[in-house]
Amino acid sequence: MAKSRRNTADSYTLRARKEGYPARSVYKLEEIQKQFAIIKKGDTVLDVGAAPGSWTLFTNNVLLKGVGKIVAVDLNPLSINPIPHTVISYVGDAFGNEIRPKLIEHGPYDAIISDAAPLTTGNRGVDTARSEHLAEQVILLGAEHLKTGGNLVVKLFQGGGEQELMKQLRTLFTRAKIVKPKACRDDSFEVYLVGVGRKEGEQV
Ligand SMILES: C[S@@+](CC[C@H](N)C(=O)[O-])C[C@H]1O[C@@H](n2cnc3c(N)ncnc32)[C@H](O)[C@@H]1O
Repeated sequence: MAKSRRNTADSYTLRARKEGYPARSVYKLEEIQKQFAIIKKGDTVLDVGAAPGSWTLFTNNVLLKGVGKIVAVDLNPLSINPIPHTVISYVGDAFGNEIRPKLIEHGPYDAIISDAAPLTTGNRGVDTARSEHLAEQVILLGAEHLKTGGNLVVKLFQGGGEQELMKQLRTLFTRAKIVKPKACRDDSFEVYLVGVGRKEGEQV
């Protein structure tokens, strides 16, 4: 029986395995970083929806080069081992009352990156609405916890209110763009919203 494309290891999956990353999603962040230079060595970074840990590991190894701080939050634990010394990880709801004081304690942040996704149901309308809700909450974290000049990347399932969310990003950032990295699977309907240069004092 023919394997489905989802079950077939593509070139990004194979490269991730070879380079020691637990997920192929790392190459989406790599592309976004090349285009927007959102993170630099020494930064304090918040990674929302960080597990299994590819974005966190790439941020430590390649972008911070081991200098800076990454606060990695997910409903599930990171699966990277060892966890780099720059990483402080929390298991829980990134938007809940238990995690909130931790985010304040370690902030403000130079960058907030979020690949957070809901558990998908297969019902596109439901999945998209949940993704929109997550993205909206990440943007609110950006408004609250980013330094002036800071940057934000957040995943969104297409059809999930891009225009309204982009309006919010344009209010908060000097530059805002929607991107679809080549590393996204052909059949995926995800995009990333990028905000560069948090404006001083603006709120949504
Ligand atoms: C696609 S995975 C992230 C992959 C990760 N960027 C990497 O490179 O390894 C999406 C993650 O979002 C997390 N997530 C969804 N809702 C969340 C929430 N409210 N708080 C924290 N994490 C959440 C999920 O648990 C899941 O691990």
